[in-house]
Amino acid sequence: MVIGKPLLTVEQIQKRVKELAQKISEDYEGKELLSVAILRGAFMFFSDIVKLIQVPMDIDFLIASSYIKTESSGEIRVYADLREDIKDKDVLLIEDIVDTGLTLSYIRDMLLARNPASLKICTFLDKKERRKTDVPLDYVGFEVPDEYVVGYGLDYENKFRNLPYIAVFKKST
Ligand code: IMP
Ligand code: MG
Repeated sequence: MVIGKPLLTVEQIQKRVKELAQKISEDYEGKELLSVAILRGAFMFFSDIVKLIQVPMDIDFLIASSYIKTESSGEIRVYADLREDIKDKDVLLIEDIVDTGLTLSYIRDMLLARNPASLKICTFLDKKERRKTDVPLDYVGFEVPDEYVVGYGLDYENKFRNLPYIAVFKKST
C-alpha cells in the first residue's frame, strides 16, 4: 500500500474550510442550523467547519456506508440514524466526499421525507467524474480527480482517517 504525497495540504484545507464556513455563516444569518455529520468519513471536516460557522447550531450524526474496499456497493446502509427530529428545521448535511452520489441521494431522500424547513449539502470533496446520480451540492470544498483518496477523515479499510491532509492511495500490486 502506498500513500502518495499530499494532494491537498493542511494549509490548503484550512484556508478552504474557513472560506466555506464564512459563506455558510452569511447564508444562514439570522437562522438556527442543525448540522449533521455523515460518519465516519466526515468527522474531521465536520469538527473543523462547525468551529468556524458563526450561526447558532445543534449538531447530530448519522452513520452510513456503501463502500466495500475502494468500490461503492451501491447499497446504502444506515447504521445509526439521527437522534433529532428534523421537521421544520434548517438542516445542513456535512459529507466527506461525493463520488457516485448514491449515498447522498439516498440519505437526502430519507431526510426530505421528514419535512425539514430546508436541507442543504456541504461536501469537502467532489469527485464529479464518477457521478451516477444527480445530487444538488450547495457547498463544495474541492473538486478532485478520479483517484482514490485518503486522509482528513477518509479511509481505506478504516485506515488513514487520521492523516491531517488528503493523499492519493494506491494499492501496491
Ligand atoms: P458515493 O455513494 O459513491 O457517492 O460514495 C460516497 C462515500 O464513499 C463517501 O461518503 C466516502 O465515505 C466513500 N468514498 C468515495 N470515494 C472515496 C475515496 O476516494 N476515498 C475514501 N472514501 C471514498
Ligand atoms: Mg462518507
